[in-house]
Amino acid sequence: MIIEPRMRGFICLTSHPTGCEQNVKNQIEYIKSKGPIEGAKKVLVIGASTGFGLASRITSAFGSDAATIGVFFEKPPVDGKTASPGWYNSAAFEKEANNAGLYAKSINGDAFSNEVKQQTIDLIKADLGQVDLIIYSLASPVRQHPVTGVLHRSVLKPIGNAFTNKTVDFHSGKVSEITIEPCSGDDIENTIAVMGGEDWAMWIDALKDANLLVEGATTVAYSYIGPSLTEAVYRKGTIGRAKDDLEATAFAISDRLASIKGKAYVSVNKALVTQASSAIPVIPLYISLLYKIMKEEGIHEGCIEQIQRLYQQRLYTNDAVPTDEKGRIRIDDLEMREDVQAKVAKLWLEATTENLSEIGDLEGYRSDFHHLFGFGFDGVDYKADTNELVDVPSIK
Ligand code: NAI
Repeated sequence: MIIEPRMRGFICLTSHPTGCEQNVKNQIEYIKSKGPIEGAKKVLVIGASTGFGLASRITSAFGSDAATIGVFFEKPPVDGKTASPGWYNSAAFEKEANNAGLYAKSINGDAFSNEVKQQTIDLIKADLGQVDLIIYSLASPVRQHPVTGVLHRSVLKPIGNAFTNKTVDFHSGKVSEITIEPCSGDDIENTIAVMGGEDWAMWIDALKDANLLVEGATTVAYSYIGPSLTEAVYRKGTIGRAKDDLEATAFAISDRLASIKGKAYVSVNKALVTQASSAIPVIPLYISLLYKIMKEEGIHEGCIEQIQRLYQQRLYTNDAVPTDEKGRIRIDDLEMREDVQAKVAKLWLEATTENLSEIGDLEGYRSDFHHLFGFGFDGVDYKADTNELVDVPSIK
């Protein structure tokens, strides 16, 4: 079929297998260009199909020759209907890994469930014996609690007061004012249940109890802080509470891993266009201004550049892993540079529908958004008849 983008708000209903493959290949090339990383050799990535998780899987495999197991929740294709992009990304990843002689298997299902944890445990036991790095990179709007059965929904709302600020519809470029009402009821608890640390801890407990962690195993989850511009809706909002919980969980997991000399870290990453972040009001405008400044300064990074730097300059150096005063790894250092933030704050005040394409990097935002779904890549013939029925080799 000929596959074209069909945008609906902050999602795209279609995705392009050849474009997703190109996206994966580009990331692999980048990692290879940066040289080998003395990193973990048996890696489990939870949330491995898009964004930071996919970049982590690629960095482990093609930077450190690691065997990888990837867990994700993606829609396979059906006749006449494309898969979700993470499916095609994973198909391409496995193909490239297999071609390179690297072990790569994937599990498609709900990572919050006991069943998927058990499936993963069985696979590690059968194929790898143990793992030495676990990346936790889930971004989900819902979680069915495996013990209580309650379906928790996360919300992206301020706490206490309504928040009014600028936002942009990145498709049309229209800048407008948006008011987000404060959270209510159990919104905070629910958001923590979905995006906080409980499930991460459950994964690590399950792996440790099954004796699947190498001595000295490391686990890393991803967090975000961001500037004061976005803090009402992000870091001081409901999602921020979940990130506080995730960050606190790192210490609890580290305690539990002490007996095997293991360690849990949170890495604070940069704001980037992913399916998760484009759903948060105000953030797309911030990102389009941030991109403009960081590109002008020559310090822009995407997911793959961020994770390459996380591995090579933070996790796997000869020195202790550098952390901030709260024990977090920081790879948002360039985003948070004072001069960068001062410029973004100034542009924020100036931004209008009329000038955004000039003072901001709306084009870059849109292009990244299209790329998430495999559209807009050089070298891909989007007019070609394309088979949507692509398999992930290890998923039967
Ligand atoms: P993403 O939407 O690109 O990736 C989410 C991954 O989670 C996908 O692999 C998806 O299949 C998987 N997933 C979602 N629900 C699942 C479930 N129930 N079971 C199994 N897999 C499931 O998201 P992104 O942006 O890469 O986010 C990953 C982490 O990085 C999140 O914790 C996010 O808060 C954090 N982060 C994101 C930033 C951003 O700007 N995008 C900045 C800093 C941190």
